[in-house]
Amino acid sequence: MKQAGTKRLGLAVGILGFGLAVVGCGGGEGEGPIVPPPPAPAEYADKHMPAGWWADPKIIEEGRELYIGGKNPDVNCASCHGKDGKPVKAGARDFRNGDRMKMYSDSVWFWRISEGVPNTKMKPWKSKLSEEDRWKIMAFERTFGLAGKGWDPAKKDWVAADQVK
Ligand code: HEC
Repeated sequence: MKQAGTKRLGLAVGILGFGLAVVGCGGGEGEGPIVPPPPAPAEYADKHMPAGWWADPKIIEEGRELYIGGKNPDVNCASCHGKDGKPVKAGARDFRNGDRMKMYSDSVWFWRISEGVPNTKMKPWKSKLSEEDRWKIMAFERTFGLAGKGWDPAKKDWVAADQVK
């Protein structure tokens, strides 16, 4: 009898500990631990931002218009991701977190916008946005956490936007 009681207590402590660990990882803001996104599938791996667009203010402004639903109310990224990249819907991550977002290459980012993230609120947008519009949105979106930067496919890193070849 005594032994069974101890076992049960052990189990209860174990469950409590697990619960705390899960809550702890949530970090309060709904942000999980920072882990790299999966690699882009083959059909997206060689897609990159059109030349010169990272540093083009006109492109970035067009991206902003699209992002806030200014061109097409059916496409309103800000309704979940927030006008300033601070999420307004549960589950959306904080685009202002440069430490996380720098792990997204332009190809991975483009793939996520195009195909969405399965089993989440993030839908595929490829039927509603042309490729060009998806790149424009990304040029704007990265300004929240990676302002002035662009993805350099040769270096496989974020560099100053006007240095991207
Ligand atoms: C209905 C809410 C909603 C809308 C609208 C929405 N998203 Fe998302 N988005 C999410 C959620 C939730 C995630 C996180 C998915 C996950 O768990 O990885 C996400 C993830 C992303 C990611 C991957 C980064 C990450 O968090 O892992 C990108 C990039 C992205 N969204 C861009 C966009 C763009 C661009 C638009 C507009 C065309 C858009 N989203 C519209 C909810 C939304």
